[in-house]
Amino acid sequence: MELIALPGEMRAASRRARAGGRRIGLVPTMGYLHDGHLSLVRRARELADFVVVSIFVNPTQFGPGEDLDRYPRDLDRDQDLCLAAGVDAVFVPESASIYPDGADTFVVPGAVAEPLCGASRPGHFRGVATVVTQLFHIVEPDVAVFGQKDYQQLQVIRRMVRDLHLAVEIVGEPTVREPDGLALSSRNAYLSPEERGRALALSQALDEASARVAAGEDRAAEVARRARRLLEEAGVRVDYAEVRHPETLEPVDRVSPRAVLALAGFVGNTRLIDNRVLVVPGAGGQRENTR
Ligand code: PAJ
Repeated sequence: MELIALPGEMRAASRRARAGGRRIGLVPTMGYLHDGHLSLVRRARELADFVVVSIFVNPTQFGPGEDLDRYPRDLDRDQDLCLAAGVDAVFVPESASIYPDGADTFVVPGAVAEPLCGASRPGHFRGVATVVTQLFHIVEPDVAVFGQKDYQQLQVIRRMVRDLHLAVEIVGEPTVREPDGLALSSRNAYLSPEERGRALALSQALDEASARVAAGEDRAAEVARRARRLLEEAGVRVDYAEVRHPETLEPVDRVSPRAVLALAGFVGNTRLIDNRVLVVPGAGGQRENTR
């Protein structure tokens, strides 16, 4: 496994692999890897022959007062996990090589980046789209794997790739959870045991919503209202609880045939997100897809 810090060296390594007939897969991360990240790596290994994991805590996607400085980091452990997972190259750039002095050009996503996390975290998706575009240009992957855990991020990236004709296939993978339902997240490291218990309300609200929809509830506002209440009752400070169109993330009146329930809330000082695509039985929306 190669450990690469310089963009030029990363690109050269990718080009060597491609010249050798290998298909290149990229898994972008901010590190502090967990089984959710590793499930993306496994998928990338199925889809590609040369798998690159990037580890970069991207400053432009953090707002003022957010957790950039205390975002958890453990590069040694991340490297061990990548080695054990069969990763071919770990790309760990310095901030100064991604954003050299005066870097002042950004990729600005449109309407799909505006609601939900885009509304609560102004500039967040601009930072994500910008760094992911850079990673695509540095690594030149054939395929890049992202988690549905960050549902809006996945839609923003799909749309960006389409709109800008980027030559990379985007694959979205299901959310990996703890046995009790909590979605794995690097930020779970911030939770006290008591907070971790409260955080379970997110996945429980999703389960409840799925069950209600399976039992015939089709009113988007009602599903959202109920989820918000469950979170509030558990002591989660709700940022948003919304039922939205699964691709555009625009508001919808009906869940049918499919819609996404997107949740974000604070447990103590920790902001957590989770989501589920709700499928109305028999409404022709069964296809497993987040496009
Ligand atoms: P990060 O939060 O480290 O997540 C990296 C990738 O792992 C994302 O595609 C995310 O959706 C996925 N992921 C996180 N938790 C997951 C889980 N429980 N199950 C499955 N996949 C999971 O997302 C980012 O970093 C950054 O915004 C990035 C895309 C790297 C750009 O800086």
